[in-house]
Amino acid sequence: MSVTVRVPAKVNVQLAVGGARPDGFHDLANVFLAVGLYDEITVTPADALRVTCSGPDAAQVPLDVTNLAARAALALAGRHGLEPAVHIHIAKDIPVAGGMAGGSADGAGALVACDALWGTRTSREELLEICAELGSDVPFSLVGGAALGTGRGEKLTVLEVGGTFHWVFAMADGGLSTPAVFREFDRLGEGARIPEPVASRDLLEALAKGDTGALAAAVSNDLEPAALSLFPELAQTLAAGRAAGALTALVSGSGPTTAFLARDASGAERIAEALRASGTCKSARVAPSPAPGATVVHPGHRD
Ligand code: C5P
Repeated sequence: MSVTVRVPAKVNVQLAVGGARPDGFHDLANVFLAVGLYDEITVTPADALRVTCSGPDAAQVPLDVTNLAARAALALAGRHGLEPAVHIHIAKDIPVAGGMAGGSADGAGALVACDALWGTRTSREELLEICAELGSDVPFSLVGGAALGTGRGEKLTVLEVGGTFHWVFAMADGGLSTPAVFREFDRLGEGARIPEPVASRDLLEALAKGDTGALAAAVSNDLEPAALSLFPELAQTLAAGRAAGALTALVSGSGPTTAFLARDASGAERIAEALRASGTCKSARVAPSPAPGATVVHPGHRD
């Protein structure tokens, strides 16, 4: 008997960052959009908790309890007085340490998968509560679609999306640590007055209307200068995507993945091809949005 859950990556179409809070986190107005690149998490009963991973970036994925999937299984088992005796396999397609919430996706996926495997029937509210304990982006990985995240990004308001947006993602050679990017944001902003983060009305309207041109004009990422400061080569990738006809180019979350909005699916293919040929990234992928959140794709069955 095993359960498989599919979970999407995300891009932040707006990431407005406030000043550092006393707890070290930053208040955000974080507009998440789930995109059609997925990890698949399969859980199978085992003697003890074990994590394995497959995929091109598998070697970079920690397999110990620092993995959010392992922490999700431990958190759910702990709440129900169960042994976390489960083998978690991650089929990884989301870039690792790329600013696309790959680790958060695995946390949300393992939680939903273990809940189905163990029959714990945890309410949506409690699942979201556990997700928020695991990390700021984990609740959104569960929910998918589009949402505004406030607080440290974990308090979600679901957003309406009126159409399909076509993205290209350029994967960088290397990763960026999210805490390091936030520290660099603080360093760059030292002495400046950091305004309260607020969601852009134009951006929310563009999403609701499914208006690609308006979305392209409204995207913003306050972490981009910090990501570029730590990973200056990304400027060349952004320029290559713009030159290839992207309507807009931005760093995805804390980076170093870069995101490009195309007019349509064939435009996205052309931009991806140009990015691959530019030599400014490791690989380039197209993905539509929005995408559904964590979904059971292989309900429990007898072997
Ligand atoms: O919540 P999560 O574990 O994903 O956060 C990782 C790190 O990113 C935090 O330890 C913190 O340094 C930074 N962060 C932040 N403000 C947020 C979210 C994350 O400073 N709203």
